[in-house]
Amino acid sequence: MKTYLVGGAVRDGLLGRPVSDRDYVVVGASPDELLALGFKQVGASFPVFLHPETQEEYALARTERKTGDGYHGFKAYFGEDVSLEEDLKRRDLTINAMAQDLETGEIIDPYGGQKDLKDGVLRHVSEAFAEDPLRVLRVARFAAKLSFGVHWSTIKLMSTLVKNGEMKHLTKERVWKELERGLAEDRVDLLFITLFACGALEEFTPFKYAFSNQQNYWRTSSPLVKFLLAVGDEDVEVLDEWKIPSAYRNAVQALNHTEGALRHYARATPEERIKVISTLYADGFDKHGVLEYVMIGGEYVCNPFRVFEDYRKLKALDLAAVSKQAKDKNEDIKTAVLQAKIAALS
Ligand code: CTP
Repeated sequence: MKTYLVGGAVRDGLLGRPVSDRDYVVVGASPDELLALGFKQVGASFPVFLHPETQEEYALARTERKTGDGYHGFKAYFGEDVSLEEDLKRRDLTINAMAQDLETGEIIDPYGGQKDLKDGVLRHVSEAFAEDPLRVLRVARFAAKLSFGVHWSTIKLMSTLVKNGEMKHLTKERVWKELERGLAEDRVDLLFITLFACGALEEFTPFKYAFSNQQNYWRTSSPLVKFLLAVGDEDVEVLDEWKIPSAYRNAVQALNHTEGALRHYARATPEERIKVISTLYADGFDKHGVLEYVMIGGEYVCNPFRVFEDYRKLKALDLAAVSKQAKDKNEDIKTAVLQAKIAALS
């Protein structure tokens, strides 16, 4: 029998965030063995045990199969032969599917959670994500909590769940509990944006004004964004051949120029980030619609919110004062401005 720390405690520990709840998973043990050690069993559909002293939760490693609609349509299997990797695989997101060996401190990360943490990406572990529609709301909540982007493949899977009517099987209490937690996060905009991006926002009628007038992005996005959704990163030469108007052509060009940097935005240098922002933003406005496109339809990883965060930092700079100071000191103004911008993003 071996015990590992799992889930949110490992994630938040790696992020250097305060850890509130600690969940443990026990591999290679039976309920009787834990009861004999003084653990107290709770939970009906699968056994969870409370530690005799700390009262922390210990669950037997398990696999889960969906057998019907909604939350109760599960069949849990928690034989002693269930491995740690199998238990981690049934979890929602890669960043939540890591474990820590309590003896050695080693992080067990079979699904790339550490990389996604570094890149700021929420990505489902496997198709088993679909087994619990509440996860659609969890993803939105984690986007708001961590200021992370959602991988396009996960948005796609979430959209399928919504389209198949899975959200309707959740009780209003569970939905509200999750949304209320999301509302408490700083970046509540990301909660709404994520729900909107997968079509789930409409499921929650109380939020009908969160994005007024937007039923779905094909109908309501700007023509530029719809165009980007349709053509993606097409060669601009092709657009020229078709005599596509410059606003549309420029949007595609802006996408082409920023795509690489956007993909690696979390790891981009301040200089690269400044370039991205100057290409995409004008007066707080996503002038080419590239960020909106990336958010709702781009087929690569990006975190548009970090871009906006950087934009706000750059906008807050008093560049007139920087220029004046450089001029007074007989320094090169362009260099001084660039240095101030780099410092703001460092
Ligand atoms: N989990 C899951 N699917 C769910 C709920 C939970 O896969 N619908 C798994 C995840 O591995 C998660 C762990 O169970 O990390 C613990 O869940 P919970 O305590 O609800 O969330 P945390 O991830 O700990 O995050 P937070 O503290 O923000 O609630």
